[in-house]
Amino acid sequence: MFEQLNEKDFGTPKRNSEQEVTLEIDGMHVTVAAGTSIMRAAAESGVNIPKLCATDSLEPFGSCRLCLVEIEGRKGYPASCTTPAETGMKVRTQSPKLQSLRKGVMELYLSDHPLDCLTCAANGNCELQDMAGVTGLREVRYGYDGENHLHSKKDESNPYFTYDPSKCIVCNRCVRACEETQGTFALTISGRGFDSRVSAGQDQPFMESECVSCGACVQACPTATLQEKSVIAIGQAEHSIETTCAYCGVGCGFNAEMKGNQVVRMVPSKNGQANEGHSCVKGRFAWGYATHQDRILKPMIRGKFTDPWREVSWAEALDYAASEFKRIQNKYGRDSIGGIVSSRCTNEEGYLVQKLVRTAFGNNNVDTCARVCHSPTGYGLKQTLGESAGTQTFKSVEHSDVILVIGANPTDAHPVFASRMKKRLREGAKLIVIDPRHIDLVRSPHVEAAFHLPLRPGTNVAMLSALAHVIVTEGLLANNFIASRCEDTAFRAWRDFVALPENSPEAMQDITGVSAELVRGAARLYATGGNAAIYYGLGVTEHAQGSTAVMGIANLAMATGNIGREGVGVNPLRGQNNVQGSCDIGSFPHELPGYRHVSDSTTRHLFEQAWGVEIQAEPGLRIPNMFDAALDGSFKGMYCQGEDLVQSDPNTQHVTAALAAMECIVVQDIFMNETAMYAHVFLPGSSFLEKDGTFTNAERRISRVRKVMPPKAGYADWEVTIQLAQRLGYEMNYQHPSEIMDEIARLTPTFHGVSYQKIDALGSIQWPCNDDAPQGTPTMHVDHFVRGKGRFIITKYVATDEKITRKFPLILTTGRILSQYNVGAQTRRTENVQWHEQDLLEIHPHDAEERGIKDGGWVSIQSRAGETALRAKVSERMQPGVVYTTFHFPESGANVITTENSDWATNCPEYKVTAVQVMPVSEPSDWQKKHTRFSKAQQVLLAQAKLV
Ligand code: SF4
Ligand code: SF4
Ligand code: SF4
Ligand code: FES
Repeated sequence: MFEQLNEKDFGTPKRNSEQEVTLEIDGMHVTVAAGTSIMRAAAESGVNIPKLCATDSLEPFGSCRLCLVEIEGRKGYPASCTTPAETGMKVRTQSPKLQSLRKGVMELYLSDHPLDCLTCAANGNCELQDMAGVTGLREVRYGYDGENHLHSKKDESNPYFTYDPSKCIVCNRCVRACEETQGTFALTISGRGFDSRVSAGQDQPFMESECVSCGACVQACPTATLQEKSVIAIGQAEHSIETTCAYCGVGCGFNAEMKGNQVVRMVPSKNGQANEGHSCVKGRFAWGYATHQDRILKPMIRGKFTDPWREVSWAEALDYAASEFKRIQNKYGRDSIGGIVSSRCTNEEGYLVQKLVRTAFGNNNVDTCARVCHSPTGYGLKQTLGESAGTQTFKSVEHSDVILVIGANPTDAHPVFASRMKKRLREGAKLIVIDPRHIDLVRSPHVEAAFHLPLRPGTNVAMLSALAHVIVTEGLLANNFIASRCEDTAFRAWRDFVALPENSPEAMQDITGVSAELVRGAARLYATGGNAAIYYGLGVTEHAQGSTAVMGIANLAMATGNIGREGVGVNPLRGQNNVQGSCDIGSFPHELPGYRHVSDSTTRHLFEQAWGVEIQAEPGLRIPNMFDAALDGSFKGMYCQGEDLVQSDPNTQHVTAALAAMECIVVQDIFMNETAMYAHVFLPGSSFLEKDGTFTNAERRISRVRKVMPPKAGYADWEVTIQLAQRLGYEMNYQHPSEIMDEIARLTPTFHGVSYQKIDALGSIQWPCNDDAPQGTPTMHVDHFVRGKGRFIITKYVATDEKITRKFPLILTTGRILSQYNVGAQTRRTENVQWHEQDLLEIHPHDAEERGIKDGGWVSIQSRAGETALRAKVSERMQPGVVYTTFHFPESGANVITTENSDWATNCPEYKVTAVQVMPVSEPSDWQKKHTRFSKAQQVLLAQAKLV
């Protein structure tokens, strides 16, 4: 099941009607859901009707006429793809007449097609070739020298796929895929009759059109017209293995199509329950980093971070790391070292790192990069609803009538979910966008937000209170839901608080910058428009009041009864592939797996018994505390698996000073990242293609990651952690990651029912999965909240300390773009740089003009933390007074400018609000010059490793 090469294509999409129809196909009785096409009904019973323009990911189109059938009592030969099955129908799929009609159709297609099958990249995987065989066509009566397209020019502009018009059969599948699946509408059929061909944009090369390179058209194309360049270069795959994308928190399922140990292409899996066959440019095409020449494949050590690296054996590197950690603990005490769990690694690997810290290190100094993104989600949702996770499946959006997106930019950061959301919006659901920027969702083909509330960065809580004020004071509360499901006293206190005049949209408009009228309209729509779902991202959490805003969101959902069923809910769009999982498995210094506080003695004893050690009852250090302690001289060693603290944490200069003060930093990574430049031990990491494990996506969906090639450096990351633990005197005995998951399941109530066997059987599992929910939990809080009754929490707006001043008059906010990912370590090493080769500073035309800034010119960005320089992009997407950049390139130093302000509850950095000044400059900042010198020196030290 996990190793099939081609997934069966049923021709038309599955229908979900409860009503059934029974018909006869070639003498067989077949029962299907009402609305199912004859083609699909036949395919489900094993009869494959020839087809070209139909595929089961798209609505039927009925253009090729190859799928004709005979229906008893009906005239003519209807197309089976567009004809719904009906009870009592008697269908014949094969007859001499049908055979001859189909042959005729195929003849026409082939008369305008290059007959180069043997040298064509799609040879053996081409539906046109298959259909020629199925219809028994041997020769073409019309000849090949008529009006044809054999000399049409190929479009090779896209780095990942080619478009060869000579092979196009104008089946329209690509156009429909771009519209229906992706929602970009980049393709059309231009010309008429024999002249008609697919064209991107206004007859442009793909790279110049609106195409976002999601690959849906390539996937849909039945011929080699749209073809992956990797297939052209390597040839067709020999086998495939189902796995999960290692980029974002959507968690798309993919089939890694392989030739031996080489990936030929990554094809989105129709079985992938998060993506149902769709993908984005990152998961689909940007996997080349996994075999990039920059990979470090040999362990290395050095005494000081200014020394040259020395390549050593695994044994020597691990012995050295262990002896250093022991030496440091002997000298500075048990709490002088800690570990960082990666949200890029598997659940099993994360679990082992936190276990290593709590057992072999003997402290709770473990943290994860969720600290800097969604820690407020964990805190805010736990306080209000009782569970630190989103409430729905992605599919649930198909039942939403109103979609409120706040502080998230799904088309760039969660693209496959964005496509799903846009589909629902095209079907008529209404959209509210709360974002300082004019993000793509506000207006894109066939999608337009009913309300865009372009608030000032840092004022989410004020906005949420204003929305709540309208709901309370205009009588839009879901009183029955609140009475039966929520704590009464807390509700009354919250209701009275938000009803205060100071929380009205009119009172708040000077703070948020959004007119009261717009806020009132949006609140009314959210409360009365039917099923209303909230999707939010880091634009909510990465603030001084991040946790407060999350609670404000939960309050809104409870107040309107929009929780506990499909189509509604509170949905954090998680950033990294396994950020949900890394939190679930106990990576925070205050929580054991399953979000149980270390001070809870029952939980602690459970783990103490299982692990055979005593666990500290006090929380350990959070990442920022580790840095502070390092600068104070009390924190000296760190095991950092798969996270680049230097590039991703705020106030880079503070971070690097802290790292430089430590005595042993062990970095386990696939590349020499910015943090590794301060390390003393480098342990080569393994990519997601090289190991078994699981990732948990933003829907709490646990999916399998499957090894498709051996670890390039010899070990998967989990094996390395085991060896390090052993050298520190703590035995870990696991032969396979499934045994680690068994241990997690044994010790964690929400995971009690999870096993690899069950994941394999069900495809994936959404936790909680236990005796109460053996198949997992797609929708949470259905009859009651996890904490019993939902708790409203008063969310008073407190302005951030980060104020604009004469010196720093603009607000900088940061985010991502589609083609790059996080610190860019992976995507910068792929052709995705063709879309985005450097971070840019987006600035409104007025702000640019006032400062004499030209589009494309260099500008310095200065905050009270530091200064950097980037090229400017003058853009109307920004509001005056707000500038924006991404943080994908280390040399940009976006985090040199961000400050140490953080969320009051969780220390999540306030990345989204930094007061800055922006001015034209002609050269890089001092920090950039220093960074360039340091990076070059480190490259020399790295090069010396090979010479020793
Ligand atoms: S790659 Fe995606 S966005 Fe581009 S044309 Fe194809 S379907 Fe449309
Ligand atoms: S490019 Fe492929 S999918 Fe698109 S119309 Fe041509 S043959 Fe069909
Ligand atoms: S949406 Fe996210 S998980 Fe899906 S393919 Fe893109 S990066 Fe991967
Ligand atoms: S497959 Fe039915 S008309 Fe093309």
